[in-house]
Amino acid sequence: MRTAILLSALGGFLKLTTGQNITQTSSLSFSATPVSTTVPSATVALDTPVPGQGDYPPVQYLCEEGTNTTYCPGVLLQDVQLAGIFPDSKTFVDKPTNGTLNDTLAAFNALGSNVTVGQIETFVESNFKGEGLDLEQIPIEGFNQSPAILDNISDPIYKAWTSIVNSYWTLLIRETNQSSLCNGTCDSSLIPLNHTVVVPGGRYREIYYWDSRWIIEGLLKSELYNYAWNLLQNMMDFIDVYGYIPNGGRKYYVNRSQPPMFIQMLDAYVKVTGNTTILERALPLASAEMQWWSNNRTFNYTSPFTGKTLLVAHYAVNNSAPRPEGYVEDYETVTGASPALNASQKAELYSELATGAESGWDYSSRWCKQPVQNISDNNPALRTLNVKAIIPVDLLSLLSGDHALLANLYDLYANSTGNSTPTTSNSTQAGNTTDIVQTNSTTSNGNSSTSSPSNSPAFYHRQQAQLFSDAVLDLCWDPAKAWFYDFNTTSNSRSNVYSPAGSWPLWQNITPNELANNETEALRFVSGARFLLGKYSGIPSVASLLYTGLNWDFPNSWPPHLHTTIKAFETLGRHHTNATVLSNLTIPFSQVASGQLGLQESELQPQPQSTIGNVSLQTQEAQGKPWPLALSIEYANRYLGAAFCSWYSTGGAIEGLLTQLPLSDLNATGTYTAGQSGVMFEKFNATDTDAAGSGGEYTVQVGFGWTNGVVLWAAGEYGQYLPSPTCPLIPIIEVNGNGNSSVYSNGTTTNGTGSVSNGTSDGGNATSSLLFAGYKIPREEWKRAAKEEKKRH
Ligand SMILES: *[C@@H]1O[C@H](CO)[C@@H](O)[C@H](O)[C@H]1NC(C)=O
Ligand SMILES: *[C@@H]1O[C@H](CO)[C@@H](O)[C@H](O)[C@H]1NC(C)=O
Ligand SMILES: *[C@@H]1O[C@H](CO)[C@@H](O)[C@H](O)[C@H]1NC(C)=O
Ligand SMILES: *[C@@H]1O[C@H](CO)[C@@H](O)[C@H](O)[C@H]1NC(C)=O
Ligand SMILES: *[C@@H]1O[C@H](CO)[C@@H](O)[C@H](O)[C@H]1NC(C)=O
Ligand SMILES: *[C@@H]1O[C@H](CO)[C@@H](O)[C@H](O)[C@H]1NC(C)=O
Ligand SMILES: *[C@@H]1O[C@H](CO)[C@@H](O)[C@H](O)[C@H]1NC(C)=O
Ligand SMILES: *[C@@H]1O[C@H](CO)[C@@H](O)[C@H](O)[C@H]1NC(C)=O
Ligand SMILES: *[C@@H]1O[C@H](CO)[C@@H](O)[C@H](O)[C@H]1NC(C)=O
Ligand SMILES: *[C@@H]1O[C@H](CO)[C@@H](O)[C@H](O)[C@H]1NC(C)=O
Ligand SMILES: *[C@@H]1O[C@H](CO)[C@@H](O)[C@H](O)[C@H]1NC(C)=O
Ligand SMILES: *[C@@H]1O[C@H](CO)[C@@H](O)[C@H](O)[C@H]1NC(C)=O
Repeated sequence: MRTAILLSALGGFLKLTTGQNITQTSSLSFSATPVSTTVPSATVALDTPVPGQGDYPPVQYLCEEGTNTTYCPGVLLQDVQLAGIFPDSKTFVDKPTNGTLNDTLAAFNALGSNVTVGQIETFVESNFKGEGLDLEQIPIEGFNQSPAILDNISDPIYKAWTSIVNSYWTLLIRETNQSSLCNGTCDSSLIPLNHTVVVPGGRYREIYYWDSRWIIEGLLKSELYNYAWNLLQNMMDFIDVYGYIPNGGRKYYVNRSQPPMFIQMLDAYVKVTGNTTILERALPLASAEMQWWSNNRTFNYTSPFTGKTLLVAHYAVNNSAPRPEGYVEDYETVTGASPALNASQKAELYSELATGAESGWDYSSRWCKQPVQNISDNNPALRTLNVKAIIPVDLLSLLSGDHALLANLYDLYANSTGNSTPTTSNSTQAGNTTDIVQTNSTTSNGNSSTSSPSNSPAFYHRQQAQLFSDAVLDLCWDPAKAWFYDFNTTSNSRSNVYSPAGSWPLWQNITPNELANNETEALRFVSGARFLLGKYSGIPSVASLLYTGLNWDFPNSWPPHLHTTIKAFETLGRHHTNATVLSNLTIPFSQVASGQLGLQESELQPQPQSTIGNVSLQTQEAQGKPWPLALSIEYANRYLGAAFCSWYSTGGAIEGLLTQLPLSDLNATGTYTAGQSGVMFEKFNATDTDAAGSGGEYTVQVGFGWTNGVVLWAAGEYGQYLPSPTCPLIPIIEVNGNGNSSVYSNGTTTNGTGSVSNGTSDGGNATSSLLFAGYKIPREEWKRAAKEEKKRH
């Protein structure tokens, strides 16, 4: 139901087609996405007492001053959340108060004790405004309808569709809505920002830290440099105010960060724009952020493999209450444990839950002592969270890469200004003390190819980069399995969960010698990736191979990991410039490096035959290419196929090129809502090209910042190699349960290309029988378009 509301809100607006002139002037003709104002709706009798009264959590970090806000854990927040009047816990905490905070608190206190669900419903209805009203959608400026990346895309459908995705930025630009904050007399969880933001979309209606990494990647491809600049300025404001970058732009996120991507974004921005002005402000703040990670998230650990003392990092959030935006879920996870937890065990589990959110992977079997397959109840697995005890391979790699890039940026700054550090540092809290210069260097700095003096920030950051990269190679690299894994300090051994986090070392240029120098070893490294490419029809960089029902496990494939996996292939390509052309890119399980995937072949989830449809598991375009390039092409193709086909099966159309699927077919997809014209999901399903991912603690989101960013990146980088899209079968659940006489009967006539077959070998556990209609892109239409395209050149 929630999905439906969100989808129709967006769908009503997604009407842009390439046939239209999107910009005559610098701003789009503009109609704002309506803000949903979810109406509180009790699911139990109104006179039911709100559960949990009297059992309130301790006051939290940064909430001391404002215990009685509407979004810090406390009596008001808990009573409202546990009244269960909204399906998503995030709804309430994003609602600004209608009057002053004092008025609101007084109204709440007047309810007295033994509050009922009905009282809460009335209280919320009369004292709060619509969630997200504190942000305002604004028209885009300087929109470029034809960024240069479009010229690289040879297929006309992909080219036109990428142009549409390029236009979706218009839906995601926000600024603080001062009027909803009533000039400071209303209260809101929003952290008011001074620069425009680009949001992910859906329930993620404010700025997010690690999402912005891939949003900026896309903005740069779309040549929207000012929006990238503004996102970076907001990030710097965060560091100025808090000393680090919180998870997102709400006050309830300020007890935790997210994967530290600021320097990565800064570097991408400077590389693409050549704009070094930004470094003046950014360098001290970037150093301050690194210092925060050093102070708050690193420790020394003795390697069981080499006996060396290594500098390592972990996610670790100091927290002993439910996350305000996930209140009901966390409360149930913790209080529903059997046997019941004592106070300190409760606090510890709340801390683990918040820590999982800091990792970006909320939640995954990566972090669980016991992955439990239970797709309808995540709680048993979550009660075994062990995030703080894990040294994540992606975090270590990122910190190494951050320090290395920062060192280069200092060099670049020094080269362009003649000064080694900015002199006009304006960061009050941490900036001035953070360019720590370590003069008693004991490590030999393998990365250093420059002559930065040993008292320079560049030298220091290069040294830090080396320390973290030493730790990755010692603790996380498994030479026998030829893959990188997390290190688990509880068992003092490497974890055996295979995940795309293992692609991050190569992404950040941490390459073991044997991978750099020996093609056979490099091929062992990609053996799992090659097998998964042939095994699953969707995006093969699946979060993990364990099917638990958690958001970051099988079968969910997330846009960031498609990017980092291809970046790892690219790194191997740079090391192996004469890499072999393989006749078969995909390989059987028996040829995967022994133990790499952590599971036996029989333990892997099946690929339903029925959802492969027309999707070819190897494309013509990758043939005859050295394997690192061929793999990159295949992965990019899978990703764009998934993003395109799920868009198409939710009503997407391209004027003059691609007609919308007939309504009967759209209705059969289960993801389409009336009026929609194509949506971009936040995640995908590795076994079904046109389905969204699922699982987790909220419904699948659409919009979607990082999805669009990675589309623009992949199409921009690999567009010249892509075949035209072929979408798979759309499964149609036969609701009358009667053999061959499905209520759905139009499949055979759809577009003249549909086919219907029995999905008997789908290996799934659906109870009703399934029929499937397959769609190819209407050939006649794209041939005509290709001809016209040729004529133009
Ligand atoms: C689009 O713009 C071009 C050039 O400005 C103009 O000739 C054309 O009429 C416009 N088309 C539409 C549909 O407005
Ligand atoms: C603040 O909350 C506490 C309970 O958490 C309550 O006792 C107190 O009256 C509240 N103060 C105001 C001003 O609402
Ligand atoms: C809100 O109420 C508190 C305590 O009741 C009082 O100290 C404070 O001055 C009030 N704030 C405003 C802005 O009225
Ligand atoms: C709340 O309700 C319970 C059960 O109805 C009752 O025993 C208790 O005394 C009430 N507490 C207050 C403070 O009214
Ligand atoms: C919200 O505040 C305004 C101005 O104080 C008031 O007129 C209005 O009645 C309030 N709305 C609700 C639902 O209480
Ligand atoms: C906020 O202040 C501005 C400027 O002082 C004024 O124009 C505006 O009407 C005020 N808005 C509200 C909701 O009070
Ligand atoms: C926005 O600007 C105001 C006024 O300069 C400043 O007080 C505030 O801290 C800024 N916000 C952030 C997040 O930096
Ligand atoms: C960098 O970008 C900012 C913001 O657009 C601009 O003010 C500045 O002049 C640019 N600097 C250079 C060297 O282009
Ligand atoms: C980070 O560490 C500093 C001390 O080094 C501490 O004051 C601060 O509260 C910590 N911040 C967080 C968010 O944990
Ligand atoms: C790790 O050990 C080194 C050398 O003893 C020490 O200088 C450093 O402060 C330690 N780092 C942490 C995070 O404990
Ligand atoms: C800075 O200049 C030195 C000397 O010309 C050069 O070797 C180095 O690559 C430059 N570094 C950057 C980051 O531009
Ligand atoms: C430093 O910060 C202050 C207040 O935040 C601001 O007024 C001033 O313009 C800033 N100076 C520079 C050089 O950025």
